Amino acid sequence: MSRDDGSIHLSDYRPPAWRIPRVEIEFDLDADATEVTTRLRLEPDPAQPPAPLELDGEDLELLAIRVDGVELPPESYVLGERGLRIPDLDGACTLETRVRIRPSANTRLEGLYASRGALFTQCEAEGFRRIAFMLDRPDVMPVWDIVLRADRARYPVLLANGNPVGGGELPDGRHLARWHNPHATPPYLFAVVAGDFGCVQSEIVAADGRNVRLAVWAAHADVPRCRYALGAVERALRWDERRFGRVYDLDVFNVVAAQDFTMGAMENKGLNIFNARYVLADEETATDADYLGIESVIGHEYFHNWSGNRVTLRDWFQLSLKEGLTVFRDQEFTADLHSRAVKRIEDVRLLRARQFAEDAGSLAHPVRPPSYREINNFYTLTIYEKGAEIVRMLYTLLGEATFRAGMDLYFARNDGRAATVEDFLAAHAEASGRDLSQFARWYAQAGTPEIRIRDDYDAATGTYTLEIAQRTPPTPGQPDKHPLHMPLRFALYDEAGRRLRTAPRGAGGADQVELVATRHRLRFHGLSARPLPAFNQGFAAPVKLDFPYSPAQLGRLARCERDPFNRWDALQRLATGVLLERFEAHVEAQDGLSAALGALLDDPAQDPAFVAECLVLPDFDTLAESVQAIDVDSLLAARETLLDQLAFEHAERLRARYHALADAAAGGLDGAAMGARRLRNLCLALLTRLDREAALAQAQFEGARSMTDRLGALRCLVEADAQGRHAAMEAFAARHAGDDLVTDKWIALVAMRPDAGAQAEVRALLGSSHWTPTNPNRVRAVLGSFARANPTAFHAADGSGYALLAEQLPGLDAINPQVAARLLGAFESWRRLAGPRRERVRETLDGLQGRFASSDCRDLLARLLG
Ligand code: ARG
Ligand code: ZN
Repeated sequence: MSRDDGSIHLSDYRPPAWRIPRVEIEFDLDADATEVTTRLRLEPDPAQPPAPLELDGEDLELLAIRVDGVELPPESYVLGERGLRIPDLDGACTLETRVRIRPSANTRLEGLYASRGALFTQCEAEGFRRIAFMLDRPDVMPVWDIVLRADRARYPVLLANGNPVGGGELPDGRHLARWHNPHATPPYLFAVVAGDFGCVQSEIVAADGRNVRLAVWAAHADVPRCRYALGAVERALRWDERRFGRVYDLDVFNVVAAQDFTMGAMENKGLNIFNARYVLADEETATDADYLGIESVIGHEYFHNWSGNRVTLRDWFQLSLKEGLTVFRDQEFTADLHSRAVKRIEDVRLLRARQFAEDAGSLAHPVRPPSYREINNFYTLTIYEKGAEIVRMLYTLLGEATFRAGMDLYFARNDGRAATVEDFLAAHAEASGRDLSQFARWYAQAGTPEIRIRDDYDAATGTYTLEIAQRTPPTPGQPDKHPLHMPLRFALYDEAGRRLRTAPRGAGGADQVELVATRHRLRFHGLSARPLPAFNQGFAAPVKLDFPYSPAQLGRLARCERDPFNRWDALQRLATGVLLERFEAHVEAQDGLSAALGALLDDPAQDPAFVAECLVLPDFDTLAESVQAIDVDSLLAARETLLDQLAFEHAERLRARYHALADAAAGGLDGAAMGARRLRNLCLALLTRLDREAALAQAQFEGARSMTDRLGALRCLVEADAQGRHAAMEAFAARHAGDDLVTDKWIALVAMRPDAGAQAEVRALLGSSHWTPTNPNRVRAVLGSFARANPTAFHAADGSGYALLAEQLPGLDAINPQVAARLLGAFESWRRLAGPRRERVRETLDGLQGRFASSDCRDLLARLLG
């Protein structure tokens, strides 16, 4: 499989020579030493050339090995670092292995690991091989019988994939549980959980009449905080029935919260395992954003049951086939349940700030990479978010009904199979009768396309012309790019803000054209004046749009454009132009922005959640994506100055709005109350800039009845470095002592404090009892917040912020390589840093050479420096 340099290539794919239709796996669970007995039914695939059996296996202590019940002599197999090779197996047989593994020593949190007295598994992508010898690849899809044996007092709850099919008592206080997973399931979706948990549960009748028991499990003390997650599971199940016709296929659906978990969550068949932060919520501990995050991740993992599990992946190059598609599905879930416009704005904000940066940096890669050295490094914003954007474009190109027909065909044709991107596109091509071969380039070509549009109006003939050119910049390994197939939506407005119905020649009367060539020209006739054009409504194509709007035009667009996303985007564009001093009439532009925001604040007809989105200026990462060379100081300073100015100019209305929203903000978890709290906390943040005493923030902190308001006020106090901030921090910490998830919140506030003092505070945290490097959430709260969300301190001009992060990485790498590699990724844009910072990063990265043990960090470091 892998080449001499350890790399794995899509073009080298071969189907497995052996098939494994069934697996029986038995666990004698114990935190220090678990024994696993696995019986693999092996059959040579007649369609493949015969090959020796090579099973994956890492850190397994082999205790016994039998073929069809007969002990295999040591000379008949080769045991290596990466697995087990049996050269002379005759034909179909049952291979039994018994191994010992050590969950309590497993700090990587891959395979079977111990956490707070319980046992969990994480197998995606290649964790199963740390549990048992197996063909650990997604195109091997057995039916599973799972037996769990464990001490009853310590592990009263024993969960696995599929349906429970019995259990009972054993001698010595032990007990057993049997599970059967009837669906062909690759090993990366295998899961086991054992521990002392409680749950909330409900019964639901699925669309096909099946009774399904839904349950959300957590440590007993946390069970009351599982209610919201359970409701989210029910909403997800119903939504997938309605919107995609997908019905749940087991008798139980279990979700378990784990405090120690590397990623967000994992879609194991019938047994989703979640980072506790995406399960646990109540009014005392969760913000509105937490609630929405929980619902969307619950949805995401649930939707994988079809997009990922029933139809799985042929190989890991196809990762976006499940992740991009499932992100698209969870985005639509949230959009259908809440505000579609706000959801789109937030998704695009993330895409621009983080995915565009990835696509323009040292780690850029296509949505389907042609090769990898460490697959864990490809769980990226490109695979997930850009992958979702590609699916969204398909949806836009084909339309709701045809897209749904394509999805139905994809699911029907690939059910129980390991599929490829080609299978996905073929289903949509067939359902729509369209040629998607050029569209497929989106999966192969890295980099964010730039759409440059110029217009011309000829008053004599009443003709308006748009010249459209597309270009994708070079990325590592891809110097030359080809034109992409994408939808381009547009609208023209007249002076009075009325939508012009004039269709261009060749667009079939539609307000959408398809770009396929490097250049296009659209011509509109019969116009009595130059119109105002608007493009890419709903951000239907994930591109950077270059059109020379004047500040006045952007102000008009922000008022007259029908598409709410584009109204927001016009203001973002205006703000970006002001921040980067791109308009000749700078003062006029700034006034225009300020007036537009003022008008929004005054307008009671506007959705407060939408107004809030408009008040949030482009962040540092987004601005950095709009410039060639990143001048950290001037970007940060420009933002601060503009925010101060807006606060000063609108102090009256901000205060008025703040107070007027008080009642609405006191509501529950409905959209109106959440929107009110969002806007109110943004008003507070601006107002606190004007008031060193931060009296309003102090008062909100003391009287807060929700975590959203308490944390919102605390953030203001910290950012303003207000007098009362220490006391408030202490009060907050004391109130939530012992709650790790809430502790992560205040730690993140400390680490994000936007001044040089943050470094000393982060160092103090690293030396305190709060520093638990084995807990990924805590590592992210301390170092992730610092490196990814505190540009002021991380990019300290002397390189001390870079050094702070780098010092921690080798140690973290030895504990949990995936967590360390994520943090190392914070350097992805270093080559575009202006001034001495670029050199400081280079020195820092050079200093890390040879200091990583894992393939994760080695691969990433090589790509960063490459
Ligand atoms: N499939 C999971 C999800 O997106 C994420 C698993 C991440 N695994 C990893 N090794 N990075 O829902
Ligand atoms: Zn996923």
